[in-house]
Amino acid sequence: MRHLMSPLDFSVEELDRLLDLAHDIEKNPDKYAHLCDGKRIATLFYEPSTRTRLSFEAAMMNLGGKVLGFSSADSSSAAKGESVSDTIRMVSCYADICAMRHPKEGAPLVASMVSSIPVINAGDGGHQHPTQTLTDLLTIRSLKGRLDNLTIGLCGDLKFGRTVHSLIEALVRYENVSFVLISPEELRVPDYIREDVLEANHKNYKEVIRLEEALPHLDLLYMTRVQRERFFNEEDYIRMKDFYILDKAKMALAPDDMLVLHPLPRVNEISTEVDSDPRAAYFKQVQYGVYVRMALILTLLEVNVC
Ligand code: NCD
Repeated sequence: MRHLMSPLDFSVEELDRLLDLAHDIEKNPDKYAHLCDGKRIATLFYEPSTRTRLSFEAAMMNLGGKVLGFSSADSSSAAKGESVSDTIRMVSCYADICAMRHPKEGAPLVASMVSSIPVINAGDGGHQHPTQTLTDLLTIRSLKGRLDNLTIGLCGDLKFGRTVHSLIEALVRYENVSFVLISPEELRVPDYIREDVLEANHKNYKEVIRLEEALPHLDLLYMTRVQRERFFNEEDYIRMKDFYILDKAKMALAPDDMLVLHPLPRVNEISTEVDSDPRAAYFKQVQYGVYVRMALILTLLEVNVC
């Protein structure tokens, strides 16, 4: 039985197969409409979510399956003090697979150790968010046609932004991918990403503070929200929150074929005037998230798709 804790749990070849499957699902949805008839996914969300939880649920429904779960820690037995390990033992009796989001780094991993059903990490604290990365990879591959030979700017809260950590880990495995890390000094990527991921893989990267400086050189700009819930004090958040605002004037500095991605939710970091720019791909990204989660559910449940 397999779980998904980090994008590295799949080899590059396995990822290719998963993205091919997601692509086929996009083109031929009817072929997949009953492959999970009688199966259930449990969504165990101890932290707020809109897209991730709903897209797991939509993905299972599109496959003919059913969903159950909870959307906040307060409405689960966690509020009574139940451990994640006990909860997952229970959930294994009700569902065939589960997706867990938790504010504590490593909680889904702890769950996977005692679970008798596949566990998917749907975001653990400021650590990892592998299914957002699958979404990002499918979006990039579908809209850019490749995952290699890219210069990618990642902008915003690179310290606490788990989507950024997972995406960098996944992309260092492709040829000739360079990174421009755009953040204020206080929100730079954690040392383990810089040293154990970028440097250990001999990747070309630079860290800059000004978005304007990076924009003309990018194939892709990945914007992120400042992660308010991970700050120790509100004043620091208020100081940082509007550090970057991508607007029409800044988009004029970017190449005509640069894509703008964002895992969403957006706060102020992308002005709504950018939404109508053909380079804005963040709403398309949401749709790709459903296809890739369908592919993931089929893969982890080992459903024969031929
Ligand atoms: C992201 C997350 O939860 O880390 N959202 C998402 O799942 N699409 C990004 C964020 O909350 O800023």
